Amino acid sequence: MMGKTVCYDFVLYLAEICMHTIACCSFKGGTAKTSTVMHLGVFLAKKFHKKVLLIDFDAQANLSTGLGFSSDEEDTMVAVLREEKTIQEVIKQSHIKGLDVVPGNVYLDGVEATAPIVNDLYGHERLRKAIAGLDYDFVFIDTPPSLGWLTQSAFFAANYSMIAAVPEPYSILALNRLQEYHEKIGNHHNLEILGVVLSFWDERGATNQAFVNAIDQAFPDKLFDTKIRRDICVSRAVLRGKPVCDVYPESRAAYDYERLAAEVMKRITGEKEKKKSLEAVHV
Ligand SMILES: Nc1ncnc2c1ncn2[C@@H]1O[C@H](COP(=O)(O)OP(=O)(O)OP(=O)(O)O)[C@@H](O)[C@H]1O
Ligand SMILES: [Mg+2]
Repeated sequence: MMGKTVCYDFVLYLAEICMHTIACCSFKGGTAKTSTVMHLGVFLAKKFHKKVLLIDFDAQANLSTGLGFSSDEEDTMVAVLREEKTIQEVIKQSHIKGLDVVPGNVYLDGVEATAPIVNDLYGHERLRKAIAGLDYDFVFIDTPPSLGWLTQSAFFAANYSMIAAVPEPYSILALNRLQEYHEKIGNHHNLEILGVVLSFWDERGATNQAFVNAIDQAFPDKLFDTKIRRDICVSRAVLRGKPVCDVYPESRAAYDYERLAAEVMKRITGEKEKKKSLEAVHV
């Protein structure tokens, strides 16, 4: 019996180190978190043939509607957090091969105050436990624009965080807050910052360099080279419940998101190599 448990734990451990779980966050709203999660998922599945799961962990359920699902879905992480369903029962296939989704709904808001989570001292570990043992190359968690319970749970479930920013003063000021938050989480949990994504980029913006410098100061060497340029096609595609590359394959945004997906792949593979060589040094 004991042997079986150890073996199962080892399988879970292997699954965890092979599966990259990325929480996309920002303290400020409207920084393209949802658009980034959706398009990275789409391109990693479509172009890189990866198995990807997107978790809509925001009561606004924008990720769900952006991929053509209803925002009133009953099968969401709410049921999983409340132990009414397993995560396998709420995973839905998207129209893209290799891309699955756990939709969100309005009941995610305040879910931590409902039974049985409210009585669980370790309630914020429930998302991490729910996804442990899943068989995906990448899991992306879309979080709400706050550092509340949902975002905290997403950070505990993730091994990487991805920070969404826009070239605006309030977004950049919020980065310092986020940096402190990462530091605090990092004291209790192994969370690596994968990178900072700048969206709504205007190549001719007069203050671009100032924003880039501020990001470098808060998160040194973490800014992705690829910037997602402002492109009305992103919103137009949302209205049709589709990713931008389905509706406007030649758009700037489709091009930028494909490059960002390639950069994410490169960073994660690079991190793996770095960890391997560090382990070799310690042996
Ligand atoms: N590169 C872009 N160019 C133009 N519009 C964009 C771009 N990226 C996202 N948008 C639009 O901006 C709005 C906000 O984007 P999105 O929902 O991805 O941000 P968010 O950070 O998830 O917002 P929230 O904080 O409310 O969750 C959406 O209407 C989206 O379609
Ligand atoms: Mg969002």
